[in-house]
Order: sequence, then C-alpha cells, then structure tokens
Amino acid sequence: LDSSEKVKAEERVIGDLLIRNCCFVDLSQVERIEKASFDDPYTAIIFWSLFLDPKVCFRVAINKDKVLVGYSIIKLETSKSTKQSHLVSIAIAQKFRRKGYGKTILRDSINLAKDKQSPRMILEVRADNESAISLYRKLGFVQESVIPSYYGNGEDALSFSLNLIKGI
Ligand SMILES: CC(C)(COP(=O)(O)OP(=O)(O)OC[C@H]1O[C@@H](n2cnc3c(N)ncnc32)[C@H](O)[C@@H]1OP(=O)(O)O)[C@@H](O)C(=O)NCCC(=O)NCCS
Repeated sequence: LDSSEKVKAEERVIGDLLIRNCCFVDLSQVERIEKASFDDPYTAIIFWSLFLDPKVCFRVAINKDKVLVGYSIIKLETSKSTKQSHLVSIAIAQKFRRKGYGKTILRDSINLAKDKQSPRMILEVRADNESAISLYRKLGFVQESVIPSYYGNGEDALSFSLNLIKGI
C-alpha cells in the first residue's frame, strides 16, 4: 500500500459518519471543538505531539456535509508490566451532540484498540461529567477507582476500564 491507500484503509463509514485518521488540516477544527468543550483544553502543542506520536490513534468524524463533528484519541501504552489503550480525549461539537456520534466514534476507537491486540482500555473522567460517564457505561466501561485531585483545579477523577479480551 502507498501512503494514500493506507489512509483510505483506515476509513470507516458508520451510519452517516465517515471516521478516519486525523490529518494535519483537521487540527484547527479539533482544537476549536476542544476549546468549546473543556475548561482546561489541551493546547495546540499537545495536539501536535499527539498527532505525531506513532503510539496514538487520532480519529475524526466527518458528517455528510463534510463537517468535522468530533474526535477521539487513544494512546497505546506498552511497558514491561502493562499493555493497554488509554482514551486521551473525546469530544463532539456542541450542536452535533445527542445524535449517537460520541458512541460511534468511541466504538471505532475500541475496535482499533482490539485490532492492535490491546487487552483493555482505560480512561479518566470528571466525577460530575454525567453525559460522558453515561456514554462510557453504555459501552461497557466499569468504574475502577477515584483519583483524588487529578485535575489542575483539584477536582477528582473517576477511572474506568473496559476489558477488550473476547469471552471475558
Ligand atoms: C460525552 C460526549 C462525547 C458524548 O457525545 P454525544 O455524541 O452527545 O453522545 P451520544 O449521542 O453518542 O450519546 C451516547 C450516550 O451518552 C449519554 N449521553 C450523551 N449526552 C448526554 C447528556 N447530555 N446527558 C445524559 N447522558 C448523555 C447517553 O447515555 C447516550 O445514550 P442515549 O442517547 O441512548 O441516551 C459529548 O457530550 C461531549 O463532547 N462532551 C464534552 C467533552 C467531554 O466531556 N468529553 C469526555 C471527557 S472524559
């Protein structure tokens, strides 16, 4: 495969969304959604480093009008003791929420993690983020623990995990 075919091979059409790897030209739109979605958004530099990191699967969802409606970023973490996928960030632009897009792009990330033989996915979420917690539980994530003062403003995080090994 040449590089353009490889990118194509990673495209998936699910319902009315096209989900594909993030391209350089998508980054400004991703940043815009991130800024509108979080009080402490990732900076452009953080997105750049995620975009360039070979251990990161950075996915964007495009609708029929070619609008980038959201993104999902996972990092494959491998050390001697752990092998897992970490959901680094996920967001859907405000006006496209509650259409099932969050569920769709997260399912795509879960499938990619499975393709990479990752045995589990982990994530952290603010304890008061009801919509995200509900989404994670719907996709089978279970709460593991509370991480005190995880966020910059001292807020706690809840950590969740999803087993990706078949039959368990
Ligand atoms: C969390 C987020 C990605 C969900 O995206 P979405 O496209 O609106 O979610 P979906 O339409 O796929 O909804 C899937 C499920 O999530 C839950 N959910 C989504 N929005 C919700 C809301 N406002 N209130 C309660 N539950 C909600 C529901 O369980 C929903 O299932 P249902 O439609 O069958 O009730 C979106 O709200 C978002 O971008 N939030 C800001 C960024 C963020 O908090 N990211 C997570 C950081 S850890």
